Amino acid sequence: MTHSDFSGTRLISAISDPVVVTWQSPSNIALVKYWGKTGRQLPLNPSLSMTLAKAFTETRLTAFPRRKEGSVELEFWFEGLQNRAFGERMTNFLDSVNDIFPWLGQVALKLETHNTFPHSAGIASSASAFSALALCLCSLDAEFFGIMLDENEFRFKASYVARLGSGSACRSLFPGFTVWGSSRAFPGSSDLLAVPVPDVHPLFNTLRDTILLVNKDAKPVSSSEGHSRMTGHPFAEARVKQAVKNTAQLLEALKTGDKQTFIRIVENEAFILHALMMTSDEGFMLMHAETLRIIGRIQHIRKETGLDICFTLDAGPNVHLLYFEGQNEQVNKIIVEDLLKNNEQNMRIDDMLGSGPMKLD
Ligand code: PMV
Repeated sequence: MTHSDFSGTRLISAISDPVVVTWQSPSNIALVKYWGKTGRQLPLNPSLSMTLAKAFTETRLTAFPRRKEGSVELEFWFEGLQNRAFGERMTNFLDSVNDIFPWLGQVALKLETHNTFPHSAGIASSASAFSALALCLCSLDAEFFGIMLDENEFRFKASYVARLGSGSACRSLFPGFTVWGSSRAFPGSSDLLAVPVPDVHPLFNTLRDTILLVNKDAKPVSSSEGHSRMTGHPFAEARVKQAVKNTAQLLEALKTGDKQTFIRIVENEAFILHALMMTSDEGFMLMHAETLRIIGRIQHIRKETGLDICFTLDAGPNVHLLYFEGQNEQVNKIIVEDLLKNNEQNMRIDDMLGSGPMKLD
């Protein structure tokens, strides 16, 4: 598979009426982390994620007739307001996928989007935003040309397109667990797009993720800056090997229902991500003192109680607490009485394993 497999065609004649498509698409949290990229948004290492259920972006894309062709013409609305900064990022992205959708300069676009979760809340909004937009673009393409891709082909194409907007977004196209990045442990995996993990023990279908919000401020170092600090990183080679191994072991644990291996790898990956940040040439730290307290408590409580709880972190200070549905009540008590005890606003987002994007009318 190459980029040219996805190149599209121009409209033969201009559209005469507006065409509207709407998708909702979830965010995802990486369990094996993608950190560092090369080429056109290709990952240095394979990653494996859990698709979330409640944290999603809803995006409506309208293509209007346009008299004169030209560069991308986009009006961007976020949460009911026009937003120039986000609009610019989206316009740049649309410019970059002009070869896949050569009709982009033949229509005028209006993009309206809103999230079910607060911006900068430790949930990757770029993952849900770019996957929703990619789905809308693929849907418009299908409507313009009457293309009938089967469900899988359609999602793979959307995953390819989403990756070009934000790497982690390509993993949001599928239900359950997803792998992005070629890995020998998973035939069919690719650097170009993500693929769903088909073989998962039912135990993991009840996985929950409560996000404990430590801080909502903008991060001092963005993810794209963080990725670039992996270039020439002294531990880069070892990291790739380790991610390959962790992906293989986590796939096996998901298949066999091995919770202990799952916990070990998930926490190892969270620590590695932040260790790579701290040990990059221009080191930086995104964890706060409260992040350290919470993860220390999670590990301690697990040892004391035997509960199957563990944590993961995104590129930020907020803690994702992972646990299983059967232990809801006990875990909730721990969250309220201990993990959130210093959190005056009791800021948490309760999420769980999700079933992937959905087309809306
Ligand atoms: O997709 P990006 O460029 O926002 O990078 C995401 C990086 C991490 O969230 C830290 C890890 C991951 O695999 O999602």
